[in-house]
Amino acid sequence: MLTDNHGRKINYLRLAVTDRCNLRCFYCMPEDGLNWLSRAELMSYEEMLRSCSLLVKMGIEKIRITGGEPFVRKDIMQLLTSISRLNGLKDLSLTTNGVLTAQYVPELKKIGVRSVNLSLDTLDANRFFTITRRDEFGHVMAALDALLKHNIEVKINAVVMEGKNTQDIIPLVEMTKDLPVSVRFIEEMPFNGDGHVYTGLQWDYVRILDEIKSKYPQIQKIKDPAYSTAYNYQIPGHKGSIGIIAAYSRTFCGTCNRIRITPPGELKTCLYDDGGLNIKDMMRNGATDDELQIALLKAFGSRAKDGWEAERLRVVHPGIHESMATIGG
Ligand code: GTP
Ligand code: 5AD
Ligand code: SF4
Repeated sequence: MLTDNHGRKINYLRLAVTDRCNLRCFYCMPEDGLNWLSRAELMSYEEMLRSCSLLVKMGIEKIRITGGEPFVRKDIMQLLTSISRLNGLKDLSLTTNGVLTAQYVPELKKIGVRSVNLSLDTLDANRFFTITRRDEFGHVMAALDALLKHNIEVKINAVVMEGKNTQDIIPLVEMTKDLPVSVRFIEEMPFNGDGHVYTGLQWDYVRILDEIKSKYPQIQKIKDPAYSTAYNYQIPGHKGSIGIIAAYSRTFCGTCNRIRITPPGELKTCLYDDGGLNIKDMMRNGATDDELQIALLKAFGSRAKDGWEAERLRVVHPGIHESMATIGG
């Protein structure tokens, strides 16, 4: 079993395949986008597959593909298909904004993707446009429909933002009445890519839960799956469930089992870690698998306990402004 220096199991890799995106969610990136990486700076599919294969041999059991938006990277199904065949991998999942997803759903099903996390902050097309700055609401709803039709488990991610979508909390909860989805409300984190002043967290998980309880006092806590980022709830009689992700309050660091690889190949052993080990560069400099493994083990052996200190510095120094799309969420 792969563990870190605090005795936490590491068995989950989040692989961000691109920093590019076809939406411009204002909590993630500015209107003009980011300074996109060039093709040469991005990990190639060969490099990604080699990293995944090595990490699966070392003990990674679950890989989640993230971005940016994974489906804007060309021929992404080719990479997903190869990863899905890795011996020892138990779970391949994806986080997507849903804009291009619908057409890929049958193939995702075929290669064994069991679950997809879909970003959807509102059920109102106008508010969708205000939040994402793109008119793609219909495509995202079509993706949701296609995923459900193919019996792929869906978790909906809604970042809760004062003045933007708090009126959507109850309608999103209502979706769980007839649909077998998990609707997860996420605390907004200060990763907006343009340094716009983050005024602090206004909707923490307690306030979100209170809002839901005001309409549904009968809401019940249900058991959280192991290593869940969300506190999970259900309204009796509803097909789906509700989750609240305390992403800002970071209440799940103590059991964190995940590592990340960013689009240019930086290993992050914590969301708030500044990287330091670039596995793409190592590979391009001719590193063997043994050398890569030694470097990875060294990084796992000096993993931050809870990235609080680094995160506090980010907030205190707003000049540091990373986007979620460059980290992979
Ligand atoms: P699964 O448990 O595999 O479904 O993953 P997830 O819920 O973490 O995945 P998803 O990509 O849907 O992310 C949901 C939210 O949790 C996003 O806002 C992420 O940025 C946030 N998140 C994911 N991992 C971490 C983490 O390690 N720390 C913090 N603070 N937030 C995280
Ligand atoms: N705060 C919280 N969640 C965010 N996401 C993107 N940016 C932020 C942010 N600043 C979420 C999106 C997506 C997931 C991978 O990350 O909802 O579903
Ligand atoms: Fe794109 Fe996701 Fe960022 Fe929105 S949050 S701009 S969908 S990467």
